[in-house]
Amino acid sequence: MKKRILVSGGAGYIGSHVTVELLEAGYEVVVADNMSNCDRSGFEGVRQITGKEDIPFVEMDFCDAAAVERLFDEYRIDAVIHFAAFKAVGESVAEPIKYYRNNLTSLLNVLEAARSHGGCNILFSSSATVYGEAAELPVTEQSPRLPATSPYGNTKQICEDMLRDTVASDRSIRGIALRYFNPIGAHPSALIGELPRGVPNNLVPYITQTAIGKRSCLSIFGNDYPTPDGTCLRDYIDIVDLARAHVAAVTRMVEGRMKEDYEIFNVGTGRPVSVLELVSAFEQVNGLKLNYRFADRRPGDVVAIWADTSLANRELGWTARRTLAETLASAWAWEKHLAGR
Ligand code: WQD
Repeated sequence: MKKRILVSGGAGYIGSHVTVELLEAGYEVVVADNMSNCDRSGFEGVRQITGKEDIPFVEMDFCDAAAVERLFDEYRIDAVIHFAAFKAVGESVAEPIKYYRNNLTSLLNVLEAARSHGGCNILFSSSATVYGEAAELPVTEQSPRLPATSPYGNTKQICEDMLRDTVASDRSIRGIALRYFNPIGAHPSALIGELPRGVPNNLVPYITQTAIGKRSCLSIFGNDYPTPDGTCLRDYIDIVDLARAHVAAVTRMVEGRMKEDYEIFNVGTGRPVSVLELVSAFEQVNGLKLNYRFADRRPGDVVAIWADTSLANRELGWTARRTLAETLASAWAWEKHLAGR
């Protein structure tokens, strides 16, 4: 029998790409989303790419415990990939209660439903933000987690701990936390991608919106950092590569190949790229000039972070494949697709 994966927040940016890769790897998928930060186009794009018209979709809120229980009653679930969460760093500082309530409650409800249904495999969508301004680079999974600098970052740390502690208390539940570095780009079909609401916070959507003329000028936050060109260093991971890491991790879980009942993996490329390098690569691969200026540092930004990916490479048999050029071409193709629809 095919294994069935529940993808919470499956209509969003990462969730939609993961759903495509799961279906293409032969999994059955149930997509659930409350549509609070996306529209139907992500799910429609998944149907178009995979040619599957009958993917179960449940519109529901993971903060509704009874609804989560009902979902587990209705479907035999082999693993949950839990994305459903708020993710805007700045908004979390302004509205911490909203972030704690949503991000913690939704995972608690998944954990409770897993327990009341005889156990489950749970893959949690965590973030490299847990490492903060790391003293040693690249960061390994053993690098210390530093005190979070935003409520959003804190919810990622608390959720990791909730999963770890639940796994320790209940042999029927296993967990993996994937710590993403900076996910960027879009599916090569340009049918799904990132859909920021309002002014983008993240670099690549800001770049593509500037290139298409929706924004007049990109501000590069800080050019006096202690880095080779003065701009911050990040590890930009292609969204399809990131999605493939989920398939590898979920397969390890459902095939019973985990070495511990709770495991953590970094998901990045292992390669630091500066903001200026990213901008030039975008200009070069897409043959255009971007209007940008240097601005003040953005409060809360770390200077540099990139991943040691050897654990994921070895244990998941996964490695990032798409080049930065391919990824930035896909981000631009997606922006153009959005402009034309
Ligand atoms: C990257 C670099 C900016 C916008 C955040 C979250 C993290 C994760 C991913 C999200 C930085 C610079 C950006 C702009 C710029 N989670 N920049 N001009 O801050 O590394 O990570 O997103 O869901 O938890 O913190 O990503 O894309 O915002 O910034 O110069 O208009 O680009 O200063 O150096 P970040 P980012």
